[in-house]
Amino acid sequence: MFSLKTAVLASLTYVGLAVAQANSPYCDAFSNICYQGYYDATYDITIGLILPPLTTGTTPNYTEFLGEIIAPVSYGWTGLSIGGTMAESLLFTVWPYNGQVMFGPRWTSGYVQPLPYAGPVITLLPDSVVNSTHIKASFRCQNCTTWEEGSLGYGDLSAFQLIAYVASDTTPVDDPSSVASNMTEHDIMNFFGMELSEAHTTTTTLYDSYLGPTVAKYGQCGGTSGNFKGPYTCAVGSTCTAIDPPYYYQCV
Ligand code: HEM
Repeated sequence: MFSLKTAVLASLTYVGLAVAQANSPYCDAFSNICYQGYYDATYDITIGLILPPLTTGTTPNYTEFLGEIIAPVSYGWTGLSIGGTMAESLLFTVWPYNGQVMFGPRWTSGYVQPLPYAGPVITLLPDSVVNSTHIKASFRCQNCTTWEEGSLGYGDLSAFQLIAYVASDTTPVDDPSSVASNMTEHDIMNFFGMELSEAHTTTTTLYDSYLGPTVAKYGQCGGTSGNFKGPYTCAVGSTCTAIDPPYYYQCV
């Protein structure tokens, strides 16, 4: 049986590897969101994260961040672990399907198939794209700083965090049309070290501006009612909630 101790020991082994591979700041040329992250030139994978400001010492009054994963479109799937381990971490998987970005959160208790994970509220940001060379998932993740058996920065959002990414460069997932599809094991795996203290915007206003046009609390954020075409992003403090799916979603 896989234990948390095993996961911690495994992740400590990788911390050494990740020291040389540390976060650095960059701004995405399309979204203009400025992230802390890492570009892996060997595998052509970019990972970026940015959090709202730390407002109350190290105790944040928010539970969200923005992230992006950019990978070659030829990969079967690409994965991200913001806890640095496979087990008991918040994972994300992404792959292309018919020009769409198939992206979602996952979780697993060990080295077994990670399954879709309820809890995180994901909003894909408008610069998410599949083009002839790359896939990019640009996302807002709410309710994402803690998860079953873990938390970002072990509960301290200004601490060091090992970030891991994996991919299968040749094998597609079993059913690319379903975001819940099973997949086979990755054949690419790497890590970098993230100083979370460097991964916060300076102001809440700047963080909010990255979200693009937002819907005020109680406004419609999705659904077919009224031929709705967006915006889809709820203002900070509210979450897009299915009220009468598929017709009406509201920021509450
Ligand atoms: C059926 C699917 C999967 C299988 C069978 C699998 C299996 C494994 C195995 C056996 C290892 C240990 C490899 C080693 O130490 O050399 C490993 C490591 C890892 N896997 Fe997976 N994996 C799967 C899917 C995923 C997914 C979807 C993610 C992330 C989105 C992921 C993230 C990781 C990470 C970050 C590590 C290295 C850190 C650690 O050992 O905890 N894996 N995986």
